[in-house]
Amino acid sequence: MSGDPQILPGTGRGTAARSSVVEGARPQPQRPVESPLNRPADGPPPRFGEDVKADFPGLVTAEGKPWHYLDTAATAQKPQAVIDATVRAMGVDYATVHRGVYARSAEMTLAFEAARRKVARFIGGEEHEIVFTRGATEAINLVAHSWGGSQLKPGDRILISTLEHHANIVPWQLLRERIGIAIDVCPLTADGRIDLEAAERMLTPAHKLVALAHVSNVLGSMLHVEHLVALARSVGAKVLIDGCQAVPRLPVDVAALDVDFYVFSAHKLYGPTGIGALWARAEILEAMPPWHGGGAMIDRVTFERTTYAPPPARFEAGTPAIVEAIGLAAAIDYVQQIGIGAIGAHELALAAQAREELRRLNSVRLFGPDESAGIVSFALEGVHPHDLGTILDEEGVAIRAGHHCAQPLMDHLGVAATARASFGIYSDESDIAALLRGIERTKRIFAK
Ligand SMILES: Cc1ncc(COP(=O)(O)O)c(C=O)c1O
Repeated sequence: MSGDPQILPGTGRGTAARSSVVEGARPQPQRPVESPLNRPADGPPPRFGEDVKADFPGLVTAEGKPWHYLDTAATAQKPQAVIDATVRAMGVDYATVHRGVYARSAEMTLAFEAARRKVARFIGGEEHEIVFTRGATEAINLVAHSWGGSQLKPGDRILISTLEHHANIVPWQLLRERIGIAIDVCPLTADGRIDLEAAERMLTPAHKLVALAHVSNVLGSMLHVEHLVALARSVGAKVLIDGCQAVPRLPVDVAALDVDFYVFSAHKLYGPTGIGALWARAEILEAMPPWHGGGAMIDRVTFERTTYAPPPARFEAGTPAIVEAIGLAAAIDYVQQIGIGAIGAHELALAAQAREELRRLNSVRLFGPDESAGIVSFALEGVHPHDLGTILDEEGVAIRAGHHCAQPLMDHLGVAATARASFGIYSDESDIAALLRGIERTKRIFAK
């Protein structure tokens, strides 16, 4: 990253004196020292547990008690470094990008494009292959609309799976309504992983795309992407990976994985809402028509005819999410200080521990495989997940209860909803202990 302008640096550690959007670009007004959570730049990296928790101001209740936040799969809490970066970007550094002739706009443009470069390097792509979107949902809709709408024809098939998030189901159904493609659904193994042996049997040359989640947002099951890519390539299908739950937990290298499209959302990666990314191979993006029209995506406009900018600008109509891009870059810096490999291992261990302890309660049904990437879905016998969630809330424990935007998976599991505890960079054993205490209390309440 050494060639990049430093965008509002990383973890908050040692950031107090450095706050210009592009380091050294111009003198900055004196600003107050940032969060008291900041640590010295030359200090040791934070350790999982208390150290990391201290970086996240959201992890306390209104009464100042620890808040056991177990809903990171829905959206992650933000470290102070990301909050500070967005405050600066929205405050003293704020200006538009790409069009300004004044210095601040030029600096913001550099920072915005450096954020794109940072995202690209974080997932192993090239910067001109990163399209900023509002999130994973918009990224999949973009691919379905633009690539699917231009490259697929009636009778072509795509393969998704039983465990997909609605974001990776509905856009394909809209495309089916539009052009008459067929959608096949790959089943799961008994323990809740996408069954790649079944995929192998199902795939035919009529399949033009396989679109699957890298990590299930309900079961935490992980897809063996390399295996899938080999299967898809054998029939000539392209591969889209929904990396929403993987990017915050697993090292991702799109080039090594050899996929065609990869999408994720910043807010699950400790960054702001309202921004995410589509990565796609340059030659694929090049051949895709625009989907939204407006400013910034054009080459030349006349009333008779408009020509379009090359990618990624072609797919970024309108003023982009400038502040959010800066925040996303700060989130990547934060995550990289700890290391995505270490984060993944930490969450894997927490999920294994949680599953083991929940299993010991006897009254809990666990969903998904034992090897889970930090996401544990379960049901407490005789208690609706919403009731459990409400009682846990009284105990300062936040879980998710519902269908998790995966209703076909709920149908498959034979339940209307599950309770879900999902871990993050800041989770530790104290959160699991609080969850178990809350479940015991719920059992006592329902036993009366
Ligand atoms: C696996 C998966 N895909 C897609 C999405 C949609 O993400 P967003 O709502 O940020 O666009 C989510 C969000 O929960 C998810 O978990």
